[in-house]
Amino acid sequence: MPKITVILRDGDRQDVDGAVGISVMEAIRDAGIDEMLALCGGCCSCATCHVMIESAADAFPPMGEDENDLLDSSGHRSGCSRLSCQLIVADSHDGVVVRIAPED
Ligand code: FES
Repeated sequence: MPKITVILRDGDRQDVDGAVGISVMEAIRDAGIDEMLALCGGCCSCATCHVMIESAADAFPPMGEDENDLLDSSGHRSGCSRLSCQLIVADSHDGVVVRIAPED
């Protein structure tokens, strides 16, 4: 099962299991990390699952228009920003590092 390293807002790092086919948001939530709200549950309508991909930024397919528009609402958007509910884990994602974005 791919391991994803999550950098928490306080800088701590935690490796989480990312079962193939679930989203990175679900992997983070299932690991008990509660600082990322993910309020809409993965419907791509809240932007509270914002992460920055710290490694292999091109490991995931390009974002869709809805994701892009939602990220524009964040004051913390960067070039490696993604909505983690839109990132589906594959075997090739073992070792990917994501940072939970600051709260907007
Ligand atoms: S959980 Fe709401 S946009 Fe990702």
